[in-house]
Amino acid sequence: MCGIVGYFGQKNPKDVIVAGLKRLEYRGYDSAGVAILDGPLGDQHIKVVRAQGKLAELSKKLETESFSGRLGIGHTRWATHGVPSERNAHPHTVDGLSLVHNGIIENYQDIKKELASEGATFNSDTDSELVAHLLSRAVRETKDLFKAVENVLPLLRGAYAIVAMWEKQPDVLVAFKNGPPLVIGLGEKEVIVASDVQAIISYTNKVVYIDDHEIALVKGTDLKVFTTAGHLVKKETQTINWSADQVEKAGFKHFMLKEIHEQPRAVASAMAPHINLETKSVELKDLGLTTEQLKKIDRIFIVACGTSYYAAVAGKYVIEKLAHIPVETDIASEFRYRGPVIPPNTLVVTISQSGETADTLAALRLAKKLGALTLSICNVRASSIDREANGRIYMNSGPEIGVASTKAFVSTLAVLNLFGMFLGSLRGRLSAQDQSAAVENMLALPAQMESVLAYDKFFGEAAMKLKDYRGVLFMGRGVSYPIALEGALKLKELAYMHAEGYAAGEMKHGPLALIDDRMLILMVCPSDEHYEKSLSNLEEARARGGKIMSIGTGDNAALKAVSDDYLSLPDASWMVNPILAALPVQLLAYHVAEALGHDVDQPRNLAKSVTVE
Ligand code: AGP
Repeated sequence: MCGIVGYFGQKNPKDVIVAGLKRLEYRGYDSAGVAILDGPLGDQHIKVVRAQGKLAELSKKLETESFSGRLGIGHTRWATHGVPSERNAHPHTVDGLSLVHNGIIENYQDIKKELASEGATFNSDTDSELVAHLLSRAVRETKDLFKAVENVLPLLRGAYAIVAMWEKQPDVLVAFKNGPPLVIGLGEKEVIVASDVQAIISYTNKVVYIDDHEIALVKGTDLKVFTTAGHLVKKETQTINWSADQVEKAGFKHFMLKEIHEQPRAVASAMAPHINLETKSVELKDLGLTTEQLKKIDRIFIVACGTSYYAAVAGKYVIEKLAHIPVETDIASEFRYRGPVIPPNTLVVTISQSGETADTLAALRLAKKLGALTLSICNVRASSIDREANGRIYMNSGPEIGVASTKAFVSTLAVLNLFGMFLGSLRGRLSAQDQSAAVENMLALPAQMESVLAYDKFFGEAAMKLKDYRGVLFMGRGVSYPIALEGALKLKELAYMHAEGYAAGEMKHGPLALIDDRMLILMVCPSDEHYEKSLSNLEEARARGGKIMSIGTGDNAALKAVSDDYLSLPDASWMVNPILAALPVQLLAYHVAEALGHDVDQPRNLAKSVTVE
């Protein structure tokens, strides 16, 4: 996910911005750049320096650059529109107006068409540059950057966090967002705008969080925040008092919460090596299996334990739908003892965050002994499972410290989506056009995840109602069913509450008898092909006095009408919905456990990696 830093103050903006971007490196990126004022007072201009690759490349270029101005912006880019390159790196600058952007402008094609019809020429393939064109066009009229932003905002659709500067106003930054985070640090004689407190905490611990649909105006060291309707908003200045331990947890109370909020970056890092942004297609790099080997596969087993097994169940739905290959899923401790029948041309996929789970390792060894080709989806390079499998795809989530798996799970779901798309394309089941559309959906996912995570406080409030029930029945249909399974496991392992995950269609086959006002029904029901049936399941439960919490798409009146609590997700494709739905079920369990005073990062009786049977 992209990192943003903006600065106005007495220090050298280059130093503050690059140091801030370094603190944001965990967000994952493939290029970086700065735009900083330079030149004589009264006649300053924006100087831009950008570089593909890591910050070291940018720092090398900056060694020979000096800037006399006190205003600047910087960015680390995770490519979504336009390949990783210097020309696509941010900041993007048009006629002395420069900006950095995190997120996706969904209506970028319409905007590009309109600008091109007015004769605009483009220097990049990015959606972000188009916003710089819109602002540059507007500021020619308004002669004021803030007013230009007010005029342009209604034109934008999508999830975005943007910080802009204009060389005619050498002490002004304007920041605005819808989804991805922005926070403003108020120093002695300086202001720092950033994606994350991490980039600010070295300079000040006084911060103001910007909310969606607000516009922040930094003028010198003065900060004012307005609604998009132009009304001044009174914002609370918060003090960040991080202990050393909290610095290690990036300010989060627990590693698990930090890892939940790292998930947009984790998914981005999982996908980045395997998406060709030019052709919008999936290219599985360094798989360790040849295309010929994969073409011959006519059956797949996915074998894992716990949360990884629930990812396997989701993978079954995705791969069968996209590639039309039969997929069986097995709990590893069952697979290894049930005498599985492995026909020729079988691929056995193991999923393991740690790469050391005893049952999964044993299942892998058995699969190889029975002649199957094996593929590991793992988060730890050179782990036993990673080394012993024939092929491998990495979750790339970064170290997962919390015993309860979160970011590894969503990264696995993203990897399984790409794997299904790759196989579908290989077998002529997924057209280039459909693959491109699916890739676009996956590229939009990290920003959508950030906009869901921005509502963490609502999930916390919902969790407080959940904790008093005697149990929770998580339900879902289709690819939402494994999310129901995972949600129940999260509540069990963190809140020590009884919870079950069920296929919603099974309600009449028994679970309906469980329903009373002490048993909460939690239905995962995005607006997909199963929605109507899930809604009628809820109406049945409601009619029997059931208490209901539902997770759905957008502002769904029908779901709200049958639910005591409703949690909303962005509109997304069927294969993206489960990844988005994982976030509220993780946060619900986290907040209940935290409220109950449990050891969230080390729940009782559990280990991070079960290396014994
Ligand atoms: C998930 O929250 C648990 N920590 C546990 O179920 C875990 O997923 C399981 O033990 C498998 O671990 P692995 O992914 O490292 O193989």
